[in-house]
Amino acid sequence: MRRIKVPSPCKINLHLSVGERRADGYHDLESIFQALDFGDTLSLELAGQDGVCELFPGSPLLRAVPPGENIVCRAVSLFRRRTGFDRGIRAGLEKRVPLGGGLGGGSSNAAAALGALNILAGTALPPAELRDMALSLGSDVPFFLAGGTAWVSGRGERIFPLESLPPWPVVLVNPGFPSPTAEAFRRLDSRRGGASRGPGGRPGREALTGALSAGPGDWPFWNDFFPALAEGPGEEAAAYRRIISALRDAGAVFTGLSGAGSTCFGIFTDGGDAEKAAHFLLNHRIFVYVTFFLARSAFRVLEC
Ligand code: C5P
Repeated sequence: MRRIKVPSPCKINLHLSVGERRADGYHDLESIFQALDFGDTLSLELAGQDGVCELFPGSPLLRAVPPGENIVCRAVSLFRRRTGFDRGIRAGLEKRVPLGGGLGGGSSNAAAALGALNILAGTALPPAELRDMALSLGSDVPFFLAGGTAWVSGRGERIFPLESLPPWPVVLVNPGFPSPTAEAFRRLDSRRGGASRGPGGRPGREALTGALSAGPGDWPFWNDFFPALAEGPGEEAAAYRRIISALRDAGAVFTGLSGAGSTCFGIFTDGGDAEKAAHFLLNHRIFVYVTFFLARSAFRVLEC
């Protein structure tokens, strides 16, 4: 096999609770991740000079990122170091997921690259080794090796797959500005002013995952980043509040913020209502997209 093409779906966080800042600078999380039927497409080809990864971005979205720094090339370099694989790689990335939008686009690209390389290089690495490589590329990358619905804790490395949910329609609304992850964590810390944040009094894993079987209208989930980013003065905070209330007005039964921002989402019980809502919202926003929950599946190959 010389060429492989794989999907690279994005995710939303149905729930995201952030613990205290740890000694290593990361924060412990408790989150429900949900993969979506929307994302980028990655192709890898055995071509070019040995040891080199050339990236051909199929979208102007990627122009700002130097190809060598793109997470796909970083995944290729890490895979080479761990396995000794040395063939030249030409990567093509059709980018659709907004950058810095909390949808895990880059993390998904990294996981797709590791999975695709494992096939292309014929290495057949076991899942534990892929997970270890994934985590060193980013906290959200391990989730994308399997996707679906999962309870995720620790820094992002502890993943407990959950039963698939129905393919609920989701409207994604990006406000047109990114939310850099490290900066969002800093804002959350400074808002808390060093106050300890344990699970104290808040529902834990059992109660939260148990609530998934209720309809989205009854979900008790929250995202700790939302108050940190959307409360208070400033244009960006106001934009978040406007989007959430527009989604509610348009009939969303559950609304939320994904990751550390900036994309908001609304869940609808009817696909037609979601389409109508997106149509209405599109008049006012830069990026609005209707998609569906995506179930966990075996590693998918679109083309060889
Ligand atoms: O792991 P990743 O590179 O995606 O993280 C980006 C930044 O987000 C980290 O440098 C850290 O500041 C913050 N982060 C965190 N706790 C996490 C995940 C990310 O503080 N669980």
